[in-house]
Amino acid sequence: MELPFAESYKIKMVEPIRRSTRQEREQWIQAAKYNLFNLRSDQVFIDLLTDSGTGAMSDRQWSAIMLGDESYAGASSYFNLKNAIKNILGFDYVMPTHQGRAAENVLFSVLVKEGDYIPGNSHFDTTKGHIEFRRAHAVDCTIDEAADTELIHPFKGNVDPQKLDDFLKQHADKVPFVIVTITNNTAGGQPVSMQNLRQVREICNRYGKLLVFDSARFAENAYFIKTREDGYADKSIKEIVREMFSHADAMTMSSKKDAIVNIGGFIAMRNQELWRQCSKFNIMFEGYVTYGGMSGRDMNALAVGLDEGTEFDYLETRIKQVEYLGRRLDEFGIPYQKPAGGHAIFVDANKVLPNIPREQFRAQTLAIELYLEAGVRGVEIGTLLADRDPETRENRYPKLELLRLAIPRRTYTNNHMDVVAVALKNVFDRRQQITKGLEIVWEAPIMRHFTVELRPCR
Ligand code: F0G
Repeated sequence: MELPFAESYKIKMVEPIRRSTRQEREQWIQAAKYNLFNLRSDQVFIDLLTDSGTGAMSDRQWSAIMLGDESYAGASSYFNLKNAIKNILGFDYVMPTHQGRAAENVLFSVLVKEGDYIPGNSHFDTTKGHIEFRRAHAVDCTIDEAADTELIHPFKGNVDPQKLDDFLKQHADKVPFVIVTITNNTAGGQPVSMQNLRQVREICNRYGKLLVFDSARFAENAYFIKTREDGYADKSIKEIVREMFSHADAMTMSSKKDAIVNIGGFIAMRNQELWRQCSKFNIMFEGYVTYGGMSGRDMNALAVGLDEGTEFDYLETRIKQVEYLGRRLDEFGIPYQKPAGGHAIFVDANKVLPNIPREQFRAQTLAIELYLEAGVRGVEIGTLLADRDPETRENRYPKLELLRLAIPRRTYTNNHMDVVAVALKNVFDRRQQITKGLEIVWEAPIMRHFTVELRPCR
């Protein structure tokens, strides 16, 4: 008999979590103004709000923490990080930042001007936020296939080369760089193929544009290239990663994802002049160029995390858990973005709750129902997140209304996934009775989903 698959690690430290009653959850969510970000973590049983900074570090990472060098300048921890980035990603110039959006802030302070356009595949919300804050525009050139959640496509995160080329043909003078997010979080944690990265590079070369990778989940992307793209099955993850980044001029990184640390980020690039220009902003916003808002111990853990995060066995365990949750949802006929993404399952709220008007935030309504059902916290990737158009102030209605269930790395077991799947099934089974959504009571002018206050529609 073939042996079943099992995790490539065992558990050395645990943190208790507590189930609550439906009655408790009803009170808590009301007090939280129907915004899951406002809950206290002890009001949550299984927390799938994000896979960012929520993973479990390894014994190697914790031991690296003990060796952290907290010197202000030139710490050995910085050189450990710089060497890991050089060896694994291939960049010579490195700047630590406190997290991914800080890397965006520093790099975009140099590259983005008012009136610019930044094309790419779907931009993450902080990426878009940093572009729009500078009165520039993010242009989504993701392939159309990404918007059809039932359609199986191996690389649904891809840039549509035709869309990108057409855009550059008209607006090249207003485009400082192209950004590709790997994996494409907004489209469902969907990967970008090596062939697509190569094509985008060729287009950038033709128009003389820089190519930047938003690299938060680059290792999961490499796993999908290895397992889905012709010619890569026999290459190691690290070889694939090197080839991916050979197409980029610069990268921003949220280390809280694929580098499996609780905090951290960096910018890496090939060009010394760009590094010099960034250093001014890094020193103003983040910290001196050899720590940029990170402690020495955290840089040490990050250096080890980059190595562990690009090991096949770890990635296989990780992605198979996401697939496992997807298969459980298949059993119950619950629609989600297919195939399962690298870090999360994205439930298709347009299909689950079509009776709720889209003005009443379908995906958020589903997220609240799931929380009430079992204390599982997901996050809305829909109209709340899409925010208002900065000029017209009208709601932007994205094609997809998704409830993201992001799975922290090395944190939960498949028993937890079973609870999530059955809780969702229970909500799904009573979906016809869910006919009213939510309305906004208060919202912030930008990135409203974090702090928005809602109430059930009457
Ligand atoms: N880029 C992508 C693709 C991301 O998913 C994130 C964060 C960032 C940049 C910003 O990085 O959080 O370190 O400042 N995504 C988290 C999420 C928050 O839940 O998807 P950060």
